[in-house]
Amino acid sequence: MVHIPVLLNECIEGLNIKPGGVFVDGTFGGGGHAKEIIKRMGSGLFIGIDKDETAILRNEAILCGGAVKTVLSHNNFSDLKQIIEGLNLNLSLDINKIDGCLLDLGVSSFMFDEAARGFSYIYDGPLDMRMDKSSTLTAFDVVNTYSKERLREVIQNYGEDRWAARIAEFIVAGRQTGPIETTFGLVSIIKKAIPKKAREDGHHPAKRTFQAIRIEVNNELEVLRKAIYDITDVLNTGGRLAVITFHSLEYKIVKKAFKHLAANCVCPREFPVCVCGKKREIDIITKKPITPTEDEIKRNTRARSARLLVAEKI
Ligand SMILES: C[S@@+](CC[C@H](N)C(=O)[O-])C[C@H]1O[C@@H](n2cnc3c(N)ncnc32)[C@H](O)[C@@H]1O
Repeated sequence: MVHIPVLLNECIEGLNIKPGGVFVDGTFGGGGHAKEIIKRMGSGLFIGIDKDETAILRNEAILCGGAVKTVLSHNNFSDLKQIIEGLNLNLSLDINKIDGCLLDLGVSSFMFDEAARGFSYIYDGPLDMRMDKSSTLTAFDVVNTYSKERLREVIQNYGEDRWAARIAEFIVAGRQTGPIETTFGLVSIIKKAIPKKAREDGHHPAKRTFQAIRIEVNNELEVLRKAIYDITDVLNTGGRLAVITFHSLEYKIVKKAFKHLAANCVCPREFPVCVCGKKREIDIITKKPITPTEDEIKRNTRARSARLLVAEKI
């Protein structure tokens, strides 16, 4: 399946693309947003980052930016500062700051639809779920080596599944007879753990647990928290950061980070004078998150839970 870029026009508008600038897509994926960003740039430098090497290899040969210089980097967007330093060194560039960055979080349809990547509860495959195949922790490790309590925490905190304790209990019982090797093996255990009545709420019963394990395997939330601050640091004045989130955990992190970055002083109210010295760094452009239209959701069901937040460096 191809990956249809979510909230495409809204992202492009949010990034306020200036010709000749330096723009970054930190979640390059299938390059859907990237192609439109490059088109609008006309000239300048585009940097595409993805921690999934196949996303980089698939597009490296075909990505042609015309007058825009394009660079793809197999990396984590949270390392943007180091990526820029590396590019300056290796490609003799002289970049200090960037003019815009997009983060379209989560996995792409390419990853989800490839059974061998183990992201999907719809296809049978090995329990992997690594976005970056060179990292060591896999879904197999989480499912087969974590204690019952740790599993419960992961499923509760990252999946917000009210059946977390039972699912953890059933996983630990299920692995007594041998390791749980496949996505379908895990799905069948989750189905047994959730009472039949509760399984009829419309969502796939394994959706939340799979999300939780994926977040754990890829350390997605810690990385996001750090990245919002680091990317803001390297934005030029007037530069924009646009983030598309797909679930409430991501959304809360971005919203909280933006709120903190947009605040002047964060001293407790009872302090007579400011001792923190914190200065406002951004303006929040999206007072409310931008969500897809009914029409977009009809064309692309993946867009259903998307929420776009945009901030501008001051
Ligand atoms: C939703 S897809 C992006 C799709 C892309 N916007 C498009 O239109 O084709 C998310 C991509 O971000 C990558 N990704 C997720 N977290 C990342 C991170 N921390 N650093 C770099 N890439 C990341 C995933 O590997 C995936 O390819």
